[in-house]
Amino acid sequence: MSGNKKSNWLKSHSNDFYVRLSKKNDYKSRAAYKLIELEEKFNLIKDSRNVLDLGCAPGSWLQVLSSFPNLKSIVGVDRLEIDRIQGAEFFRYDISDLSLIDILTEKFNCKFNLVLSDIAPNITGIADIDQANFTSMTENVLQISNKLLEKEGNLIIKQFNGPRLKEISSILEISFRKIEVFKPKSSKKNSSEIYIVCKGFKDC
Ligand SMILES: C[S@@+](CC[C@H](N)C(=O)[O-])C[C@H]1O[C@@H](n2cnc3c(N)ncnc32)[C@H](O)[C@@H]1O
Repeated sequence: MSGNKKSNWLKSHSNDFYVRLSKKNDYKSRAAYKLIELEEKFNLIKDSRNVLDLGCAPGSWLQVLSSFPNLKSIVGVDRLEIDRIQGAEFFRYDISDLSLIDILTEKFNCKFNLVLSDIAPNITGIADIDQANFTSMTENVLQISNKLLEKEGNLIIKQFNGPRLKEISSILEISFRKIEVFKPKSSKKNSSEIYIVCKGFKDC
């Protein structure tokens, strides 16, 4: 980023309503409000016991999750280190290494009711490479949730609204009873990110 662009970004970031709100409420990032909105609309956390949060750094979703007394286990995974969040376990792991599935199975000896993925691969700016990285990350999240979700469990996965969204939705429809696309108000308007909320894992 050039000096000018960086200072414009810093200015608009610190003026952002959700950045100010997250500072006031001690959340690690404004992303907390996306999960709060998802929960207000879909109520998936309050009916869960075990939640797996893929791409959890810096940990604001883990903070939100840890405020739910019904959750017996909260597990976060990221390739970056985080400051520990009370009530959540953390694994530093790259989800493209699918040995994660065996590690989590062995450690927890149970499946999850809810899998969350807020993962965003690094953007190179080269459309073909970015699309390929995002596709392979999505495939990894699906492989992990196919193995670790219990029957009737739910998945929330971040995607970008683009030409592949329809195809991904069709793939998800095979494994889940119902899928819905949601764009939280706290997600920046100029970002094409959306969340696909997948309910009722068929485990077939
Ligand atoms: C938008 S951030 C998540 C923010 C998080 N939900 C929160 O509330 O703090 C996306 C995260 O995905 C992680 N990530 C990207 N690719 C990954 C991979 N292959 N394996 C594990 N984590 C990955 C990044 O390190 C980054 O921390």
